[in-house]
Amino acid sequence: MNKGTFYITTPIYYPSSNLHIGHAYTTVAADALARFKKMTGYDTYFLTGSDEHGQKIERAAKAESKTPQEFVDEVVAGIKHLWGKLGVGYNDFIRTTEERHKNVVSAVFQRLYDQGDIYKANYEGWYCTPCEAFWAESRLEEGNCPDCGRPVELLREENYFFKMSKYAERLLQHIEKHPEFIQPTSRRNEMVSFIKSGLEDLCVSRTTFNWGIPVPFNSEHVIYVWVDALTNYISALGYGTEDNSLFKKYWPADVHLMGKDIVRFHSIIWPMLLMALDLELPKQVVGHGWILLESGKMSKSKGNVVDPLVLIDKYGVDAIRYYLLREMPFGADGSYSEDALIERINKDLANDMGNLVSRSIAMVEKYFNGLVQSPSAFEAPDQELIDLAEQTPAIVEGLMDKSDISAALAAIWRLVGRANKYVDETAPWALNKDPAKKERLSTVMYNLAESLRFITIMVSPFMPYLPDRVWGQLGIADQPGLHAWEALSWGRLPAGTVVKRGPALFPRIDTTGKR
Ligand code: ME8
Ligand code: MG
Repeated sequence: MNKGTFYITTPIYYPSSNLHIGHAYTTVAADALARFKKMTGYDTYFLTGSDEHGQKIERAAKAESKTPQEFVDEVVAGIKHLWGKLGVGYNDFIRTTEERHKNVVSAVFQRLYDQGDIYKANYEGWYCTPCEAFWAESRLEEGNCPDCGRPVELLREENYFFKMSKYAERLLQHIEKHPEFIQPTSRRNEMVSFIKSGLEDLCVSRTTFNWGIPVPFNSEHVIYVWVDALTNYISALGYGTEDNSLFKKYWPADVHLMGKDIVRFHSIIWPMLLMALDLELPKQVVGHGWILLESGKMSKSKGNVVDPLVLIDKYGVDAIRYYLLREMPFGADGSYSEDALIERINKDLANDMGNLVSRSIAMVEKYFNGLVQSPSAFEAPDQELIDLAEQTPAIVEGLMDKSDISAALAAIWRLVGRANKYVDETAPWALNKDPAKKERLSTVMYNLAESLRFITIMVSPFMPYLPDRVWGQLGIADQPGLHAWEALSWGRLPAGTVVKRGPALFPRIDTTGKR
């Protein structure tokens, strides 16, 4: 089964310091989408990486008396370690300091200059160093950077400019014709009014620092970090190089996933660069909300960060992934607190999912020596459970197509809830007391075991380590055919399967004492 290709990207993060759960959220969300698409039959390519140039990095390195390259090498090693710990299965990790990337960026810059889309001019403008962005006076908010609120300084430079104004009308038309291009809708509306309020040409070179890719025809200048960074999405595929087979296969991207802070760069500058290069635009730019702390948006520059490694060690990777993916409603902001995390673990994971698995397996062991029996005639509650189980995969697929990961998990948990309710309705312990009800008990046990199989298949893109533990308990570890998305048709679990109870999947976190 091959439904075509699916190319998904995360932002390439600044390795200015270690990453926090905000970055982990985006990357785990992209990983879940990538795993899901792969599982449902797409030839999937998942790219992440690091955005290593710019003044911010240069300064951070200097503060530690390191060269920028030494500095980023260390931070990037930490980032890769974190993605490993989080079970992030990317196909490629692009670093903007790699030759393969720098060559493509230089060539792109040269081409845009040669064709007149980049030109040289004198410029005076308000510059925000933390954001590395020039602002028109009219965009300033109380004289400060409209993005981060910090003071800006007046810079006067001779610089290179990209003719954004030339492509504004075409971009607006594209956004109108493709309502799915910028998601969610609230983001699209913001972008449309931003474009309509007038786009100035973009300053695409800097002379105030050196840590960047030189402008190929003028080594006094380095290329603006966003032009450098955005190009990663095609440089990683070998665009413009001898081997561009990945580019041919996977471009245009299906989803560029990111936080709402950088949707503007991806839905305005990036498409315009692509238009100038005569390339197809990405199919979708998805901007999720922010993870907020009581003290506001978590950010490296504010220093109010939560370290995902600490949480993984404490609670386990599947639990952290579940929490992040479930708690953040699509498109809206979500707040982080350790109490909310513990509540999710205790309720959704330990109580709902973990208990369903342990009591179902325990009952098959107790009533049938661990042997899954053949089901016979289905009764009303059975049919309700089976109907929901059979409907849920399509519901999940529809939601994942909209990148609504949180709602997809909620849909799977409705099935978990339905299966738990089924146990209460059928009361297997009572059936077991009446020898005449043995056949009925067999059916109930079969349906529970088969529900576990459905649920486990569906959660696997979100919690990649969980399935193996359940397959072991369910006695089908060596039957991968029964773990696949295509195996989501009711009744595939063979009678005669031998289940075996294992350790609790998600031990409850004790909240009575001090943590
Ligand atoms: O912007 N909540 O890198 P960056 C949710 N290098 N997501 C968050 C978050 C939070 N509190 N904090 C960060 C850059 N993120 C550029 C990108 S791409 C061509 C260049 C996530 O290290 C979110 O995805 O500042 C956000 O867009 C990204 O990290 C910004 O990472
Ligand atoms: Mg940022």
